[in-house]
Amino acid sequence: MSPESFPALVLSSKNESLPALQSLCLDQLPDGEVVIRVNWSSLNYKDALAATGHPGVVRNFPHVPGLDAAGVVVASEVDEFHNGQEVLVTGYELGSFTWGGWSHFIRVPAAWVIPLPEALTQRAAMEIGTAGFTAAMCLQQLERNGLKPEAGAVVVTGATGGVGCQAVQLLSRQGYHVVASTGKADAVEWLKSLGAREVVGRDIFEAPVDRPLGSARWGGAIDTVGGRTLVNLLRETQPFGCVAACGVVGGADLDLTVHPFILRGILLSGVSASLCPRPRRDQIWERLADSWRPTKLDDVTRTVSMSELIVEIRRMLAGQIRGRIVIDQR
Ligand SMILES: NC(=O)c1ccc[n+]([C@@H]2O[C@H](COP(=O)([O-])OP(=O)(O)OC[C@H]3O[C@@H](n4cnc5c(N)ncnc54)[C@H](OP(=O)(O)O)[C@@H]3O)[C@@H](O)[C@H]2O)c1
Repeated sequence: MSPESFPALVLSSKNESLPALQSLCLDQLPDGEVVIRVNWSSLNYKDALAATGHPGVVRNFPHVPGLDAAGVVVASEVDEFHNGQEVLVTGYELGSFTWGGWSHFIRVPAAWVIPLPEALTQRAAMEIGTAGFTAAMCLQQLERNGLKPEAGAVVVTGATGGVGCQAVQLLSRQGYHVVASTGKADAVEWLKSLGAREVVGRDIFEAPVDRPLGSARWGGAIDTVGGRTLVNLLRETQPFGCVAACGVVGGADLDLTVHPFILRGILLSGVSASLCPRPRRDQIWERLADSWRPTKLDDVTRTVSMSELIVEIRRMLAGQIRGRIVIDQR
């Protein structure tokens, strides 16, 4: 395999249902100052949407998905990066509107490239990936808005997912009482082993909304589900609590009244990992490599090859995956 011809998972047209392995050459890659040999990538929910041509994620075909990439610089037009340097890229438009990391080589703007923190391997950075970065951004958002462990129970929805399982670990390591919400009855012990103090069925957040407010039970929440789940979290959060919302797996509509905001002072804090400004992005990666580093990454991660990835995409869209999937592209 050489930069002249290398494999990538390519979704050729919007009529294709899944990407297929194809040979690419460097000339086909998007413009950018840095070329990276990608050794590791990962699978996120948004990747599964991109891989099935979701119009909210993919505008042009052919498309190469992959929100995350870790590898080694093989060419750089800027002094900041040198050949052989280990780097990672997550977020911005990688894998959504621009060709992404499911390719043995990527070319990206230098502004997207982060030197790999010393404490992380390329594989560990991808075990964390966009999912872990988002969980960390949610925690940072909650803490910026005043959440402290004394506030009581903090809910994580979609807890067995990539974002959810890392949010459970992160919150628990910071001393929070984590309530993990899941649709997987067989995941209770697994979630407790990651630090959840309580595990509840996701159906308790899916109940029809009959009144603007419910009993104030939660100190705060990290919500990866959206829709009625987010509405119920907001209705049941304690006065001046905060809910960090990042996901849509359960729906994008938000059918609620203003009462949680004007009667309880609840804060709904949106999280966008792809738009995270660079200084904050660097700070979050530094923390993830240090005090916020998930200690049980290996327990939550499976490794697949590029060809094995295809089957996982549909499983992810069906909500059947537990934890993280990394892609070994070496
Ligand atoms: N805003 C951002 O910057 C950002 C960044 C990363 C991810 N996200 C979003 O966060 C969400 C989660 O991403 P992910 O990568 O963690 O996905 P994931 O690994 O597929 O996890 C999603 C989890 O949600 C639960 N779930 C699935 N279908 C559901 C449904 N219909 N109703 C309720 N729960 C359902 C399942 O967990 P249980 O079985 O345990 O309930 C599933 O494992 C996605 O919507 C993704 O787009 C947003």
